[in-house]
Amino acid sequence: MCEVVCKGERLWLREVTESDAAPLHAIYGDPAATQHMPFPPRTVGQVAEVVREAVAAAAEKPRRLYALAVLDAHDRSVIGVARLHIDAERPHCAEIGLGLRPDHWGRGMGTDLVRLLLTFGFKQLGLHRIWGARAPANLPAQLAMLTAGMVEEGRLRHHVAAPDGWRDSVIHAAIEDEWRGR
Ligand SMILES: CC(C)(COP(=O)(O)OP(=O)(O)OC[C@H]1O[C@@H](n2cnc3c(N)ncnc32)[C@H](O)[C@@H]1OP(=O)(O)O)[C@@H](O)C(=O)NCCC(=O)NCCS
Repeated sequence: MCEVVCKGERLWLREVTESDAAPLHAIYGDPAATQHMPFPPRTVGQVAEVVREAVAAAAEKPRRLYALAVLDAHDRSVIGVARLHIDAERPHCAEIGLGLRPDHWGRGMGTDLVRLLLTFGFKQLGLHRIWGARAPANLPAQLAMLTAGMVEEGRLRHHVAAPDGWRDSVIHAAIEDEWRGR
């Protein structure tokens, strides 16, 4: 599967394929990009396994996981990764996760990516609530989600078992009708 699922001006989203393990390792294997993630930098082999699981999950019915490669719209190279995970018990809700290769940070791409995920989730998947959890210290993620319209809802204490101990999460969410009204 290498279908493009959503197009923005600067970024496109397409289904992850097994050949994406190397470009995704530039994010999941990078110490700066994984600083606020709940796992230490991953090896190429570990990323390949994550990609295999994502490809298998795409075939499940009903589908719950969308693991997407983030493409630079100009040259179609993979510069990031995004995940949208639908809640099994509440299929109107999904959690998003995202990461860009560090050499693309600080130019508004992260904010664009959050906007694109909201468009994909609300318009194409028909979701009603899309939420994301970030580390309290993750300022770029906070600003990207706020600017894209994801309201800060509160803090879950000791939500994540991070490599260096328990970590709180701050929850952001967008609701479909508020999002359409923006
Ligand atoms: C989160 C992430 C996608 C943001 O990407 P980005 O392209 O740098 O984001 P943007 O350029 O859209 O910047 C978003 C905001 O953060 C600010 N910002 C970016 N880098 C910053 C930094 N190092 N320090 C302070 N502010 C920063 C920008 O100025 C912008 O603020 P503004 O909206 O007030 O202008 C990127 O940092 C990343 O991939 N991080 C690693 C993975 C990760 O943490 N994912 C989030 C999990 S919730």
